Amino acid sequence: MRSLLKDEVVVVTGAAQGNGRAIALGRARAGAKVAVADVNRDGVEAVAQEIEALGSAALPFALDVTDGDACSRFVQVVEDRLGSASVLVNNAGIIRGTAFDAPSYHEDCELTLRVNGIALGVIETPMTDVTRSNPEALESFMNHTPMGRVGQADELGGPVLFLASRMSNYVTGVMLPVDGGYPSV
Ligand SMILES: NC(=O)c1ccc[n+]([C@@H]2O[C@H](COP(=O)([O-])OP(=O)(O)OC[C@H]3O[C@@H](n4cnc5c(N)ncnc54)[C@H](O)[C@@H]3O)[C@@H](O)[C@H]2O)c1
Repeated sequence: MRSLLKDEVVVVTGAAQGNGRAIALGRARAGAKVAVADVNRDGVEAVAQEIEALGSAALPFALDVTDGDACSRFVQVVEDRLGSASVLVNNAGIIRGTAFDAPSYHEDCELTLRVNGIALGVIETPMTDVTRSNPEALESFMNHTPMGRVGQADELGGPVLFLASRMSNYVTGVMLPVDGGYPSV
């Protein structure tokens, strides 16, 4: 397991809690050095300590991913402190938004860049506290979830590890459902 991402540099945004934290810890268990970024500075520093306790290098960074200049500074700090990142887990997000301005993205070197995603059902994180504590809302989701339960954040580990490691070298452009079967019904 530790050899799958050995010495690779993985960046996880929104890593202070919930899915991002679980994904960051999972990458550390697979041997990666992990840069964890979040608007919640205290949270991301605590996660970095958990990563180091697993024996991996960690870099906590206070970052708002909607700030393009700050993202550029973050990339430079990651490069200087951990090395070039090979995996970006673009996890930071909110439950609903009104506007989205994607920062421009420039690829100025020749890379084999793979882009994959996971599409989640209801996962037990602080984001879904309100939904999960409302029996009617939860029942409505579970009526369409063949597995009949919410997911746990650490159940994202396997799918993300697959998509982020050499196990999926020839996989790109994929959106992998991790949802207990939700959209298939
Ligand atoms: N939990 C679910 O059931 C579910 C389902 C579908 C999609 N998702 C997606 O998964 C991702 C993580 O969700 P979660 O449930 O762990 O949520 P969460 O609210 O528990 O955690 C989100 C983290 O992102 C951080 N964050 C928010 N805005 C940020 C910003 N602009 N810059 C940097 N950090 C920021 C927050 O501080 C927080 O630590 C989100 O993109 C969410 O939309 C979650």
